[in-house]
Amino acid sequence: MKVFLAGHKGLVGSAILKKLKQEGYQNIIVKDRRELDLLDTNRVMDFFKTEKFDWVFLAAAKVGGIYANDTYPVDFLLDNLKIQNNIIEAAFKTEVKKLLFLGSSCIYPKNAPQPIKEEYLLTSPLEPTNEPYAIAKIAGIKLCNAMNKQYGTNYISVMPCNLYGINDNYHPENAHAVPMLIRRFHETKEKGLDEVIIWGTGTPRREFMFNEDLADAILFLMKNKDAKDIGEFINIGTGTDVTIMELANIIKEVTGFKGEIKNDLTKPDGTMQKLMDVSKINALGWTAKTGLKEGIEKTYQDFLSNPDTRL
Ligand SMILES: NC(=O)c1ccc[n+]([C@@H]2O[C@H](COP(=O)([O-])OP(=O)(O)OC[C@H]3O[C@@H](n4cnc5c(N)ncnc54)[C@H](OP(=O)(O)O)[C@@H]3O)[C@@H](O)[C@H]2O)c1
Repeated sequence: MKVFLAGHKGLVGSAILKKLKQEGYQNIIVKDRRELDLLDTNRVMDFFKTEKFDWVFLAAAKVGGIYANDTYPVDFLLDNLKIQNNIIEAAFKTEVKKLLFLGSSCIYPKNAPQPIKEEYLLTSPLEPTNEPYAIAKIAGIKLCNAMNKQYGTNYISVMPCNLYGINDNYHPENAHAVPMLIRRFHETKEKGLDEVIIWGTGTPRREFMFNEDLADAILFLMKNKDAKDIGEFINIGTGTDVTIMELANIIKEVTGFKGEIKNDLTKPDGTMQKLMDVSKINALGWTAKTGLKEGIEKTYQDFLSNPDTRL
């Protein structure tokens, strides 16, 4: 079994790599961007022709927050389309047996009913702030499905909820909610200050999953299920959400911060709830195992043991 894992240094890719190794896969090929730029169509095709993979995990993408999407919409649309088209087409031409494409919950309409079922895709307008990224991801799902339909390939698409975990990104400007709060609580404690401010009322509800649980779900699907068992694509999440204030209190406890949490009510709350319906993957036999506090404890230990992540 020869496996190509694209994006192995990322939050998702690094968890998949760890899981593959734990499960005894030995022939795993990874390339960082300097060795193989996935935007380069010819080089990607040559690479696939030379290597002849059995399985491909597509966890490489241009990822970013609202500001980056708004400032660089061309990059988010074009780079993601190119990366996924290059890999999916090369996989098809070299007869890869199974491919897994990673999407994201931002593909769903802005005002989707909660919890969000797979069938809500393309039922109403997207959230405008990440539309370029979402459109590229939707195109990736549709391409995998078109390949399966027209050529009988076995390409699976998965849509995870918000993630956090080992090897997370703690960048002060573009980190996601969990690593951002871990850093803020930790640094406030280190400086001996007594107040952490969170944006808005703290009442919006969000779903967070530990990245190693996602990797577990992905391996479960790749080993046990085919595209025909999954349909167009499948949600992966914990099925439960917490308020931002509940999340902040868990991180406060885990980091040992003793001060107060205050709200900045001049800042917007955003969507009031974002929770995936995970009944489809649960019915296939998989559920998330890591509780939020346990996952945040593991993540904080990783943060403490890797000072480089804070640069
Ligand atoms: N993180 C989440 O909360 C979340 C939630 C749902 C879904 N997802 C999905 O999971 C996938 C991976 O996300 P992530 O959070 O793991 O992102 P990430 O941490 O930013 O990792 C993305 C990886 O892709 C690589 N990459 C990007 N462009 C490349 C190129 N042109 N050539 C070679 N490598 C390239 C990056 O390499 P460099 O390090 O060189 O940039 C990086 O290693 C995405 O499709 C995302 O939508 C993520």
